[in-house]
Amino acid sequence: LSEQPYPVMKIARVSELETGKPLSFSYPDEAALSYLVKLGRPALGGVGRDKDIVAFSRLCTHMGCPVGFRDGRFVCPCHFSQFDPAVNGQCYQGLATEYLPQIRLRLDEAGDIFAEGIDGLIWGRVENPR
Ligand code: FES
Repeated sequence: LSEQPYPVMKIARVSELETGKPLSFSYPDEAALSYLVKLGRPALGGVGRDKDIVAFSRLCTHMGCPVGFRDGRFVCPCHFSQFDPAVNGQCYQGLATEYLPQIRLRLDEAGDIFAEGIDGLIWGRVENPR
């Protein structure tokens, strides 16, 4: 399998984010639905002053349905798996057995947020870049 680096992609400005309101984007390509969200509580891998800004693939690791965001958690509408964005997308309820892939973020001094990679395998792909 070929190894390709993930792209570095600007996804938002920190000033655009409201706590608890996810922002949709695609990464690393158009097919890869993702959410950026400011949780309002510290998160593993979180960026920003409060370490509470995180991003994840929206494709449920059970069968690929796009998860929604409710009450600070990702919830799959198909079979109701739930994932905790504060602990690297751990599935704590439902049929999924894998964590939701977490997108590595960087916040620069100008307040721009960049995606720089993913930890985990996006559902439906046989390989991810490294
Ligand atoms: Fe998400 Fe089944 S596809 S729980």
